[in-house]
Amino acid sequence: MPKVTYVNGRYLPHGQAVVHVEDRGFQFADGVYEVIAVANGTIVDEEAHLDRFDRSLSELRLDWPVYRRALGFIMREIIRRNTVRHGSIYLQATRGSAPRNHPFPDFSLPSLIVTAKSAKKLSYEAALEKNSVISQPDIRWRRCDIKSVSLLPNVLLKQAAVEADAAESWLIDDRGIVTEGTASNAWIVTDQDELITRHLDSSILAGITRQAILKLISQEGISFLEREFTLEEAKQAKEAFFTSTTALVKPAVKIDEVIIGDGQPGPLTRKILTYYMDYMDNIGGQ
Ligand code: PDD
Repeated sequence: MPKVTYVNGRYLPHGQAVVHVEDRGFQFADGVYEVIAVANGTIVDEEAHLDRFDRSLSELRLDWPVYRRALGFIMREIIRRNTVRHGSIYLQATRGSAPRNHPFPDFSLPSLIVTAKSAKKLSYEAALEKNSVISQPDIRWRRCDIKSVSLLPNVLLKQAAVEADAAESWLIDDRGIVTEGTASNAWIVTDQDELITRHLDSSILAGITRQAILKLISQEGISFLEREFTLEEAKQAKEAFFTSTTALVKPAVKIDEVIIGDGQPGPLTRKILTYYMDYMDNIGGQ
């Protein structure tokens, strides 16, 4: 648990870090967020996360709550005050508090909260742990490219996974296409050895882990396709995995009742996990 949390200009003991009951994030989910990894005391892919944060803010027509450089300072300060060497930062900005009314208020100051917590550094073996995923209808809105705090469908769909003893739900649109996971991007390796992840559009979040991995594998000369794939294709795949800031690269060895490949994390999944873990290890030195 964090010890110190930043709330609207103040660093407070975590237990006292509160926002107003009329904060529009609380009442309307009128806000956006980021989850950013910390490795070796360094913020992972900071600029990419802040670029995405900037985009989410502008899609909601929200101003930056503080200057971008100031946010960088606050994140570093919150890492320092919470003595985080490995873990994550959570930041959230909302339209602030105003008497409850749907349209944007004439005047409100955006709220900003920043927290950070430590997590055990994952070993390669732990990161490679086998996982099942289940398929669930994608009941979310049509702007999943915005990292909005409106996560109720994701919460319900993730809970369905937990209750099915699975690590993630892969979300299926009306055409039988896998969009993404509730909190991760989905990947498969087909029988023809094609590495596929869905192309970016408003149906999925542009994952920063996805982006970093695409860059790493391009450097390694591994080819990939960014295109839609169906649940049926995923079930017939040789390998399947999902990626996120917190999950890194997680093998999915079962989708619903279907075993993927030989039921073990596949060679390409292992390779990509190795590249990504090396990349994280090299951030900020050891
Ligand atoms: N979720 N898709 C969705 C719907 C997500 O919520 C996330 C991340 C991702 C992967 O994005 P990234 O690689 O930038 O973490 C894809 C974060 C971790 C969360 O909500 O906790």
